[in-house]
Amino acid sequence: MTQLPAVRFGVFGDAHYAKKIYGNRHCEDSAAKLAECVATFQHARVDFSVCLGDLIDSAADPVMEAGYARTMAAVMAGYAGPWHIVLGNHDVNAFTKARFLKLCAAGHPPWYSFEVNGIHFMVLDGNHLADGRDYEEGNFSWDEAWLSAAQLDWMTADLASVPDRPTVILCHENLAQKPPRDDADPHVLRDAPRARALLEGAGMVTGVVQAHYHEGMEMERNGITYIGVRAMVIGPGLENNAFAVVSVSADGGLTVDGYGQQRDYTLHEGA
Ligand SMILES: [Fe+2]
Ligand SMILES: [Fe+2]
Repeated sequence: MTQLPAVRFGVFGDAHYAKKIYGNRHCEDSAAKLAECVATFQHARVDFSVCLGDLIDSAADPVMEAGYARTMAAVMAGYAGPWHIVLGNHDVNAFTKARFLKLCAAGHPPWYSFEVNGIHFMVLDGNHLADGRDYEEGNFSWDEAWLSAAQLDWMTADLASVPDRPTVILCHENLAQKPPRDDADPHVLRDAPRARALLEGAGMVTGVVQAHYHEGMEMERNGITYIGVRAMVIGPGLENNAFAVVSVSADGGLTVDGYGQQRDYTLHEGA
């Protein structure tokens, strides 16, 4: 039986806005791509929208880089509903986390949880050094990312506080990757095995929506759906845009309606 979604949210990741092109990253085109994405979210009347990290890429100096964040924040303002800004590693190349969130006009901390229509959402921050200190102003190597012991403790308490709520996780860095990549993939958080044990043990976490691995991915593992959204920055022009509207059913099941190069995803009965 088809179930009406409890929640619908818009999501895009890895826009990497900057005045440059490198590799397959057409950074400057991301402002126009984001404008199309935001107009779609507004038209679709989603319940909220999510920036899933790496909104900007680097500039010659922090003043210019702050301008990139302000440019993208101004485009995001075209969606009138609530935004949740998930931090990515590139966002803290030149800034502290607090500074970047302020540039985006975000009034929330780096990690927190919220509820919409009976669904619990947890925003995670995978931008920590091995000792738990914050990534800030480029003091890190992108492929050694941690949630931190403090955040894992908070996750434990937060999950315990809502034992009956279907729960969806939002995180830039990856909590899991498909075989044969698995935990050896540098996009996966170093403490992902501990985090997954927590999420699987909680019994009501149904989905993880992540970014960072630009090609995107989808998989089911131990009862949890993992959606890696494709990077908005890949390729020139609007024909290479990538973003999604994700529907969450009352029991927490995820369906992805992909736009541009973002793939659709539906969990089939019995899959
Ligand atoms: Fe990225
Ligand atoms: Fe990233």
